[in-house]
Amino acid sequence: MQATLEISGKTRVFGCISDPISHVRAPSVFNPLFEKHGIDAVMVPLHVPPRGLSDFIMGLRAMPNFGGMSITLPHKVPIMEFCDEIGQQGKLVGAVNYAAFDKDRRLIADNCDGSGFVSGLLAAGHEIAQRRILMVGAGGAARAIAFSLADSGISHLGIANRTMSTAEALVEAVSSAYPNTEVQPAPPNPKGFDVIINTTSLGLNEDDKLPIDPKLLNPSQLVAEIIMNPEETAILKAAKTVGCRIHYGRPMFDHQVAIQAKLFGYNFSI
Ligand code: ATR
Repeated sequence: MQATLEISGKTRVFGCISDPISHVRAPSVFNPLFEKHGIDAVMVPLHVPPRGLSDFIMGLRAMPNFGGMSITLPHKVPIMEFCDEIGQQGKLVGAVNYAAFDKDRRLIADNCDGSGFVSGLLAAGHEIAQRRILMVGAGGAARAIAFSLADSGISHLGIANRTMSTAEALVEAVSSAYPNTEVQPAPPNPKGFDVIINTTSLGLNEDDKLPIDPKLLNPSQLVAEIIMNPEETAILKAAKTVGCRIHYGRPMFDHQVAIQAKLFGYNFSI
């Protein structure tokens, strides 16, 4: 995308750090938003090989017009060592995906995968407090979402996964962090749940099998996705046919952007 921002000596600089770098999307998401909101800031891709991470952070700390960054692989875990403060979700997940310097050049980082999902769900008007949630999948995104769900006062979390040992490990981690939330390994059966969330990669490809059997759904249930492309995955289509409410994957992304912008000092209303 052609940059239309006028960069001057007053422009605040943000980065997206990764290795490799060419695939990163954050600059093309943030820059149009900076422009839309009349913010004099720019986000640039920053190619940081792992061995350079320590020097890189030291350099940024010395640069007062550098505000913060989106963090992608392989830095999400190793960067934590160089942060001065890590938010609750980042600590629980064990990885961070955004960081900003405060006025004393202290680096503050957190993880917004789960909070972005929950914030998107709530903004769409879906209640989760005191609800029974079935999460299918127990990978990286699921881990973040599970902690955020527990933090949002759900009553019960069932975790289903192809590899049950991974689901069991996540159950253990969430239960010990949130002892008042009932968390259990579960089969991928939606019966008895209010909300069903697909966090597996099933649905990315047209010939994927479904993460749950839609014949077991009933119209009182909400079925949510984290896949953005395609917008309407096969399980969302099937759930719609049953009469369930559905929630797309896109809001999770939009709300993560808004959460990161907030730490950068800006309010992107969605
Ligand atoms: P992400 O970072 O996007 O969460 P991930 O950590 O690779 O990606 O997690 C992918 C999730 O999709 C996992 O829960 C995975 O199940 P396993 O833990 O058993 O690997 C699930 N998944 C991927 N392919 C699957 C398939 N063909 N059938 C069922 N589950 C699948």
